[in-house]
Amino acid sequence: MLTKSAAKAFFLGGTALCAVAFLLLTLDTLAELPKRSHVEDMTDQVVRGHVIWNKNNCMGCHTLMGEGAYYAPELTKVVERRGEPWMDTFLQDPEAFYPGRRKMIKYDIFDNEAVGAEVAAGNRADVIAFFKWVGNIDTNGFPAKPDLVPVGVASNVDPRIMARAPVYFQTVCAGCHSVGGKGGNVGPSLDGVSARFDADYLRKWVSDPQAVKPGTTMPTLGLKGENLDEIVEYLGSL
Ligand code: HEC
Ligand code: HEC
Repeated sequence: MLTKSAAKAFFLGGTALCAVAFLLLTLDTLAELPKRSHVEDMTDQVVRGHVIWNKNNCMGCHTLMGEGAYYAPELTKVVERRGEPWMDTFLQDPEAFYPGRRKMIKYDIFDNEAVGAEVAAGNRADVIAFFKWVGNIDTNGFPAKPDLVPVGVASNVDPRIMARAPVYFQTVCAGCHSVGGKGGNVGPSLDGVSARFDADYLRKWVSDPQAVKPGTTMPTLGLKGENLDEIVEYLGSL
């Protein structure tokens, strides 16, 4: 049984020890931060992206490094998960990607028609640069990798089949569709699609699915010109 003074000394000593440990760990964290966050990569573009992130209350729905609201996906590793072309397309019209489901807001600042193509593309690039920077922070393995095989990642698709697909197909279409039994998420497999539809139909479908089948959940991606030609030609080869 401790005497009263021994208990007091024990309490004060313990408190002092914990306070010192806390202080040293805090100093260590502060010293490590610039290294772990690669502060030298924090360009003006990254800072602009951060301003967009804050100003538009993205955190009202999303989390970054676990901080924020739990309505929408955690975005710390979103560039690694989705790739830049996918994100650029998604941000222009997020609702088109998940029609009728819970929604990511369509922001005018990312929309070519609302603020002009150049400004919108600049804003999207800024936000993506910000996410890229965040994704490179050494977070000691946070967030944990899900056990599920990630869907919608081009690297998840058979590389032999993907190698000859246009980049746009690899990075955007493959997010929803599978080819050769790999990849895909919400859309039907595109294996043998050329036997089901002719080139004219495929062109119409890809450029404006709503016009072909009103209410369809395939998004209108705004593909035109050479990009569209390339995709239609590729579909014809499947
Ligand atoms: C009202 C809630 C809400 C706000 C605010 C919001 N988002 Fe989202 N976001 C979502 C939801 C929900 C999803 C999941 C896809 C869906 O259902 O549309 C999503 C998905 C995303 C994705 C794709 C994540 C993935 O892995 O598929 C990105 C990138 C993204 N949001 C960026 C942003 C940015 C940048 C902002 C601020 C400018 C923002 N979001 C503001 C709700 C929101
Ligand atoms: C956000 C998800 C999503 C993306 C991205 C997407 N699709 Fe789709 N696609 C769908 C869905 C869902 C359907 C089924 C629609 C229906 O039947 O109403 C579909 C249907 C199709 C079909 C008809 C297939 C069939 O057998 O009926 C083709 C062809 C197609 N998509 C091609 C493409 C191409 C090419 C791209 C890229 C340029 C693309 N899709 C991007 C979701 C997507």
